[in-house]
Amino acid sequence: MEGYRGRPWTRLPALLLACAAAAAVGECRVVHVGEAHRRSMLANGLGATPPMGWNSWNHFACDGNGEVVIRETADALVSTGLAAAGYKYVNLDDCWAEPERDAKGNLAANKKTFPHGIKALADYVHSKGLKLGIYSDAGYKTCAKAQPGSLGHEEQDAKTFASWGVDYLKYDNCNNGDTKPLQRYPDMSKALMQAGRPIFFNLCEWGDMHPARWGAAYGNSWRTTNDIEDTWNSMTSMADQNEVWAEYARPGGWNDPDMLEVGNGGMTNDEYIVHFSIWAISKAPLIIGCDVRHMSQDTYDILANKEVIAVNQGGLQIPLRLSVRAPALAFALPAG
Ligand code: GLA
Repeated sequence: MEGYRGRPWTRLPALLLACAAAAAVGECRVVHVGEAHRRSMLANGLGATPPMGWNSWNHFACDGNGEVVIRETADALVSTGLAAAGYKYVNLDDCWAEPERDAKGNLAANKKTFPHGIKALADYVHSKGLKLGIYSDAGYKTCAKAQPGSLGHEEQDAKTFASWGVDYLKYDNCNNGDTKPLQRYPDMSKALMQAGRPIFFNLCEWGDMHPARWGAAYGNSWRTTNDIEDTWNSMTSMADQNEVWAEYARPGGWNDPDMLEVGNGGMTNDEYIVHFSIWAISKAPLIIGCDVRHMSQDTYDILANKEVIAVNQGGLQIPLRLSVRAPALAFALPAG
């Protein structure tokens, strides 16, 4: 398959698709992202290719997202060969912190589930050659309401994350009192830039205010959709919503249709092959969402497929279009 760059006529269906989707919300305009803009990267220099790693949410949600699972996951990424295949980020999601800030106003790791704290966990993950990601929220409480958000504490929290050795921040969008994302996300971006450590910044704004249009100035990836579920309908819906923004993805800033469900059991193996392939050609972050400590050989074979990973990580740093679904499926499904 070939990208659309240099073949302007092939862009027409995608532009029409974007226009049709935009028309549904009353604004139809065709946007062109120029080459110069495409090449500019966020000053943190991260995300030259879509990030690859693992996140606790799709499999564990708030349950079992503790330091034992995270350490064992880091071990499994290395021992299975997934780390060597490119999966480097080990990312905590919601529910890692105490429900209240400490006496100094700092976020603190949950004493029961992370008794050794995040710094020790980061040290462990780093000792395996991997990177540690963390989660917070551009609001007063996180989405699970289990811990405080970072709104109004951006500088303090960014410094805390940097001091722990955190490498990636997923920044959610709940409980923000209707304050403006175009203030909240830039505020954390600036705080991270000044925290003294390069931290990959994932804007988890769910596509509400079309972050593809402005996210590259502040982050390395931006969610284009609400939460994925482990079903064919949800997965293909995420792909379709993400596709509209294909033109905006480029080195340093990627469209994020949410994390992978491969291996979680809600789709067939062939459906997971399609899921992984679509994420790969969309230049989406490849963030595994299953329990890699206990995955099947089929799951491993999908996630470790070198050719598919190479499509995501190599070659043209632009997404391939999915506007006509049939060829994408033909590409994705195994022969016979
Ligand atoms: C939101 C995000 C999810 C997950 C949960 C955690 O729904 O979109 O990816 O992080 O919050 O509560």
